[in-house]
Order: sequence, then C-alpha cells, then structure tokens
Amino acid sequence: MTRTVYYTATTLDGFIAGPGHSLDWLLSREADPEGAMGYQAFEKTVGSLVMGSSTYEWVQRQGADWSYDQPAWVLTHRALRPYEGRDIRFTAADSPADLRALHAELVAAAGDLDVWIVGGGPVAAQFADAGLLDEVVVSIAPVTLGAGMPLLPTHVELVTREVAQNGEFTVVRYDVVRPG
Ligand SMILES: NC(=O)c1ccc[n+]([C@@H]2O[C@H](COP(=O)([O-])OP(=O)(O)OC[C@H]3O[C@@H](n4cnc5c(N)ncnc54)[C@H](OP(=O)(O)O)[C@@H]3O)[C@@H](O)[C@H]2O)c1
Repeated sequence: MTRTVYYTATTLDGFIAGPGHSLDWLLSREADPEGAMGYQAFEKTVGSLVMGSSTYEWVQRQGADWSYDQPAWVLTHRALRPYEGRDIRFTAADSPADLRALHAELVAAAGDLDVWIVGGGPVAAQFADAGLLDEVVVSIAPVTLGAGMPLLPTHVELVTREVAQNGEFTVVRYDVVRPG
C-alpha cells in the first residue's frame, strides 16, 4: 500500500533551510547515504515525488542535472525552467480538492512504491492538513539556526516508530496520527 512520506533533513530548531535558503548547515555535515535510515535505501522506496517551487529552484541554482528518475510534480503558479526530457509536471493546487486530485495522481504514478514529499515545509503542511500525509522521516542535524524555512508549519500529531544514528544526524521515523 502506497504511503505518503515527508523525508527531509532539519535543524534541531525545526528549519529545513536557513535564511536566504542556505543549506550550508546541512551540506557541511557528515552523513552516510548507505547507513541507518539513509538516503540510498529510502530512494528505492520512492515511486513519485512532489516539491514546491523554492526547492525546485534551489536544485536548479546548484547547476546540477535533475537527479530523480521517478515522475515528479512541482507546485507553482509560475512558469519555471524545465529540464528537457525529464518527467516533471508543473501544477498548482489552490483548493483541498486540487490537492486531493494531485495526490491521486502521485499515488497512481507511484505504483507499488511510496510518494515522497520532498518539501518545503508548507507543501508538507498542505498534505498533512488535507489528511494525506502518512509518515515523517527527519534527519536532525546537531545545530540550531534561530531562523529559516520551517520544517512543518502546522499541527501534526506523531507517533515515534524508529530512531537511528547516521553520521552526525539523528534520524527519526514517525507515523502521522489521523484525527478521529
Ligand atoms: N533540508 C532539506 O533536506 C530540504 C529539503 C527540501 C527543501 N529544502 C529547502 O527548503 C526551502 C523550502 O523553501 P519554501 O519553504 O519556500 O518551500 P517550497 O515548498 O520549496 O516552495 C514554496 C513555493 O511553492 C509554491 N507552492 C507551494 N504550494 C503551492 C500550491 N499548493 N500550489 C501552487 N504553488 C504552490 C509557491 O510558489 P510560486 O507559486 O510562487 O511558485 C510557494 O511560495 C528551500 O530552500 C529548499 O531548498 C531543504
């Protein structure tokens, strides 16, 4: 059964990017992609993915090629520069009904695998508020920034399912508690 998973790295005080969208606090730190709850095992579980436009533009600013083979959706109201030949769909979701329709597309595209909410926090919050988020996996870096882009700016009740150490990070897997 396909699950919808928000998998990301965060500072201890709940920011996934610093002011100005900086990821210096993250990219400078030791992590083992092949280690406990690491990215290498996670990416094998991903059948489709969705991200907001700031995250997409951050990837483009790095000048790197698009690294995902799975069908991807980018939430935006603007015309963003595409990666030629890659399966990336630009869309807006301006109502809960739009978000549910998008989620149905993501689930269908994922097949037997999971849907990855790449970020940012407000995108994950929209899925959580619509009751469409199943799981949160965070790699917590041993740093606070005091300001930045929020991890998950809404009220979500969670149950801790798994904890691991990976390099400098503490990785925690939570299930989302659905109301009712
Ligand atoms: N730590 C990590 O592992 C990690 C992971 C992911 C991202 N990040 C970083 O975190 C930062 C996140 O930035 P952010 O908080 O601004 O979030 P974001 O989700 O990447 O981008 C937000 C933008 O997406 C568009 N959007 C969001 N929801 C939409 C909807 N329902 N319909 C249409 N458009 C929608 C809007 O822009 P427009 O409509 O104007 O396009 C909105 O301003 C980035 O710097 C990213 O690089 C870090």
